[in-house]
This record gives sequence, C-alpha cells and structure tokens, in this order.
Amino acid sequence: MQFSTLAIHAGEPGGQAAGSTISPIHMSNTFLVDPEVSFSAENLGPESPFIYSRWGNPVVQVLEQKVAALEGGEAAVAFSSGMAAVTGLLLHNVQQGGRVLVSDVAYAGVREFGNDLLHSLGIEAEPVNMSELDEVEAALQRPASLLFLETPCNPILRLTDIAAVSRLAHRYGARVAVDATFATPLATRPLELGADYVIHSLTKYFGGHGDAMGGIVVGSAAEMGALRQRVGIHLGAVLSPFNAWLINRGLATLPLRMRQHEANALQLARFLQDHPRVEAVVYPGLPSHPQHQLAKKQMACFSGMLTFRVAQPQPLIRRMQQHFQLFHYAVSLGHHKSLIFYIPTDELQQSSFRLPPENLRAYRRFAGEGIFRVSVGLEDADDLCRDLRRVLDPA
Ligand SMILES: Cc1ncc(COP(=O)(O)O)c(C=O)c1O
Repeated sequence: MQFSTLAIHAGEPGGQAAGSTISPIHMSNTFLVDPEVSFSAENLGPESPFIYSRWGNPVVQVLEQKVAALEGGEAAVAFSSGMAAVTGLLLHNVQQGGRVLVSDVAYAGVREFGNDLLHSLGIEAEPVNMSELDEVEAALQRPASLLFLETPCNPILRLTDIAAVSRLAHRYGARVAVDATFATPLATRPLELGADYVIHSLTKYFGGHGDAMGGIVVGSAAEMGALRQRVGIHLGAVLSPFNAWLINRGLATLPLRMRQHEANALQLARFLQDHPRVEAVVYPGLPSHPQHQLAKKQMACFSGMLTFRVAQPQPLIRRMQQHFQLFHYAVSLGHHKSLIFYIPTDELQQSSFRLPPENLRAYRRFAGEGIFRVSVGLEDADDLCRDLRRVLDPA
C-alpha cells in the first residue's frame, strides 16, 4: 500500500463497535482481564491483552501501528510528548558511566537534557557535528552506545547523511537514533537508510493542527517491546487516548498537508531571497542550501521549515508583533497556521548549546548572529508573502 493509503488505513481495526467507521476514543484507564493476567509489567509482551492504559490502549495502539507502517518499522511506542520520546530512548540506551553522542545542534531541550540530567547521572552526552563524517568517526574512537541526530536539525536546518552515519556507527558497535520531526516519513524514512530508531514529536506535523502534544519512537519489535516495559510503563510518560485520537485524525491528511507546506515554503523562500532586507535564506529545497545535493538525495519532500537572517532583527520583531495579520510570533512548528520566532545565536549558545569554538563557527555559517525560524503553514502563499512584506518593507 502507498503512503497516503497507509496514513488512513494502517493500524485501524476492521470492524468497529456499533458499525462505526472511525476508531473510537477509549478513555478507560483499566480493562476487564482474565484472573491469570500478570500484575507485573515484566511479564508483558506484544500479544498481551489491554490491562491498564499506561501499558497499552486501543486507540494509542492504532496510532503506534500506523506510524510504524509509515516509517517501514516493525513497532512503535507512543509517549506524552516529543521530549518524553527522546529522553525515554536515551535513558533506554545508556548505563551508568556510559557515553552517547548527541548532535551538537538539536532541539534545545535535548541538549539541555544531555548537559544537565544525563551529566548528573554520570553519563557523558558528547556534542558532535553529525554532518561531518570525520568528526563522527573521531568521536567513535571511544565507546559510545548511541548516536542521536536530527535531520534537518532544529533550528538551523543542517542535514545529516543518515546512511553514511549509520554505516559508520555500526562499524563501531553504536546504534543510531534519528529525530525526523522536521522531515516526516513522507520525506525521509531513516530505518530504510540504516538507522535503528526513528523519533518524532507528534506535536508538530503529525498532529498538524497545534492542539495535541505527543511523541513516538519506531524500531524493531524486540526493541520497542523492551522500550515499552523499561521506559514507557516505568517512567509513565504515556500518550493520552484523546491526543492519540486527534493525532491519528491529523495523520490522515499528512501527505496532502506536507505537499502544501512544501509548496508554500518554497514560494516564501524565493520571496525572502529576493527581498533586499534579507541577508540569507536557508531552505533545503533551495539550490543555495549548503547541502542541497544531500537534500535531493535524502528528502522526497523539503517540508515547510525555513530560516532567514536580517541585519537588525530587534526592530523587525517589534514590527512583527504589531503588524502581522496572519503569522503568529510563537515557538513550535508543523501547524496549519504559520509561526515565526527569532533565535539569537549567543543566547542559545550560552543557555543550551555550549558549543566548542569550531562547532560554533559551523553553526554560525548557517545562522550568523541569529535567525528567524519560520514554520510555513497552510494559508495561501500569496497572503503569507503579503504579511511578510508588511513587516519587512520600510514603514
Ligand atoms: C526536532 C524536535 N524534536 C523534539 C521536540 C520536542 O517535542 P515536544 O515539544 O513534543 O516535546 C521538538 C520541539 O520543538 C523538536 O523540534
């Protein structure tokens, strides 16, 4: 079955109660069970019946099976947020005194988790520029259990060659996790390129409407079974059935939305590139993106995220807050509404990234002193360009 068919039908049970054609929301915390069912999560397996919603829930399972099918994976475990998925997978793959390699540029919360909580547990989360293979290989000279990377990475849209990094990591006995939130499986399927795990913040493009948080990890059935037991059930950051239902509904239109996000982003990227006030635009779909060849090879859709730079961002931020009619000046991404947010390089470096000098230089090549990160929504692209012109053109 093709992607758009799977997005609608995968994981959906055949017959529904009362002849319903849509999967119902099962809000029940607990389920009627046979007396011989074990009370311990240690004895749970993929074939176990529904017992308690922290262990498994029918509508959450529909979503897990659908996302696994879209990623070409065997199984998935859903979490209450993207961060819960990332931190759960990292904890699952480390031991006291262990070491993981984390993309030097990733969603700030991930870097903060590595610098803070993992560090305090005696686990080294070493920042590595995953886009430079020799830096990855140099870092692999000491044992590491896991490589964590994002492509395109938040916020600078730098890409990592998943197939090349996976080959390298496996040679050194390390596993590879790819956060592909910005790409979605319509663009890139990391498992098919050799990665061991794919992670998504479902809060973004999967849900697509900015009204439900969630996260998911996809991988082999054996690994996902262990992840559910050790992390899902015991840390307890499970997805609510209501959010699973909303995100499942969002998924039905994911392929259509992603094509429109891409078309709109391309039009806005070209508009910004031609605007005299804009110094630089970064979008994987533009030939000017430093890794456009890799983007063409690895992304079947360039998605809806772009960044741009101007010489004096502060007055522009004020104009945005006063004069935007459509864009929302807000964090997050992947929604039907267009969002924009300014990310200053120094502030992020001091608070979250703490990049060594060479990595900071590499960051600045994409982001300079700071970037406006734009999540291009599904509004009419001409209207969005007019909204941007309103704030960019001199008053
Ligand atoms: C790439 C990426 N991964 C993970 C997350 C965390 O997701 P959530 O906000 O759902 O916890 C984000 C949030 O912005 C993100 O951009």
